[in-house]
Amino acid sequence: MALFLDSADPDEIRSGMDLGIYAGVTTNPVLLSNLRPEDRLERFAEIAKICPKSIYLQVSWKTVSEMENQALTYVEVAPGRTIIKVPMAAEGLKVCSLLKTRTVPTCITAVFTPTQAYAAACAGAHAVAIYVGRISKSGADGVAVIRQVADMFAAAELSTSILAASIPDIDTLIQILSVPRVDATIPFRLQESLLHSKGTDEAIEEFTAAARGSTNQPAGLQS
Ligand code: E4P
Repeated sequence: MALFLDSADPDEIRSGMDLGIYAGVTTNPVLLSNLRPEDRLERFAEIAKICPKSIYLQVSWKTVSEMENQALTYVEVAPGRTIIKVPMAAEGLKVCSLLKTRTVPTCITAVFTPTQAYAAACAGAHAVAIYVGRISKSGADGVAVIRQVADMFAAAELSTSILAASIPDIDTLIQILSVPRVDATIPFRLQESLLHSKGTDEAIEEFTAAARGSTNQPAGLQS
């Protein structure tokens, strides 16, 4: 039931990590597309400095051996806490199996169906990233896929982590976090709504006024 921050932006990651609510950071090539490919390793190192927890770094789509080599470079960014994201496909599963023999943890990403998730777990993935929002956009039910995968993994006693990704809104996040054993990675734009409520703001105004000894309570709080 851990929360991760889905971002490759150092300022966003700093702001998120300061809160102490995240178990780590997840990235993908789209989040890094403003950087030249040769500058990405440096950005990963910067992320690893800001975030002392788990970091998910995704390999670019290439041949199996190229993805494997890239993974072996990336894992050195923060040994022991780097998880290599590999896209779901036959090639991705091969990379996952190869990395398992080298004890490099992987996350099979862009998972859309329960059978893809099951195959990833059988190939030895540490985690599967299920694209909830995009599944729902395609006409299926993203939260239902999360539930099905959680049930399948529980029935088969698979320890592979389930990472709900591509989360579109807070309501979807609440539904996901009600499913046992599911972690979620959230985009920075949801961080604000994760924390705020108008009622809380009003209560804080009331506390502040009371602490000042002021009798002028905010309108909504007068009894
Ligand atoms: C997961 O690790 C991905 O980075 C991400 O959640 C994809 O989300 P998107 O559908 O908003 O691109």
